[in-house]
Amino acid sequence: MKERNPSVESPEKKAAGIAAAELVTDGMVVGLGTGSTTAYTIAELGRRVAEEGLDIIAVVTSYQSEMLAIQAGITLTSLAENPELDLAIDGADQVDAAINVIKGGGAAHTREKIVSRSAKSFVIVADEGKSSEGMDHFVPIEVLPYAKELVSKQIRELGGEPVLRLASRKDGPVISDNGNFIIDAEFGFIEDPAEMSFILSQLTGVVEHGIFTNVDEVYIGKKDGSVEITKKEV
Ligand code: 5RP
Repeated sequence: MKERNPSVESPEKKAAGIAAAELVTDGMVVGLGTGSTTAYTIAELGRRVAEEGLDIIAVVTSYQSEMLAIQAGITLTSLAENPELDLAIDGADQVDAAINVIKGGGAAHTREKIVSRSAKSFVIVADEGKSSEGMDHFVPIEVLPYAKELVSKQIRELGGEPVLRLASRKDGPVISDNGNFIIDAEFGFIEDPAEMSFILSQLTGVVEHGIFTNVDEVYIGKKDGSVEITKKEV
């Protein structure tokens, strides 16, 4: 089947996505994230499979990454067959100085979190526009449709501003790959991402939120094609 890919070329995303693909070696089980930056990683892994005989299997985080991985010729597996992954590579919407990240711009953060938590190592690929000293991006929250009003109320009680994500101005809500809605919660500056992550996980009706505190390494692509790598301080 032919698909239309509307993404625009980005040298920064490309540099980060391709550089992180070098972490993948023969025999690995790899988690493939979602988004335009990870798309470069998937394409590069596909190239290495075809041209270098790279021997890997992969778990996807969305229908988007499934489609890209199949197109790239990467053999897919599942968490049921391979519950422990060697490495997961994914994009981000914001990366703070302590390499906590906010994800979910593509509404895939629930599966992305499951995959990242199943991996021995979790690597983020992003363009330099995503880097930030602190965290002030809205937090995507996947919610059960039945609970959208209740979750909105709880977000307001925490001082946040909930916005139901719509497919476009006239369309209905965005539906995640899990059949749920996405509420984008604006909290302003998030002083303690780990604490906020814990609090949001406790809300009734929340499936998963987009704060990730389990990143091991970040690859930031720059406009000049260089890539800055930051590892988690231990
Ligand atoms: C999807 C995500 C994406 O990884 C995130 O939105 C970054 O996307 P992109 O690489 O296209 O900027 O979290 O849920």
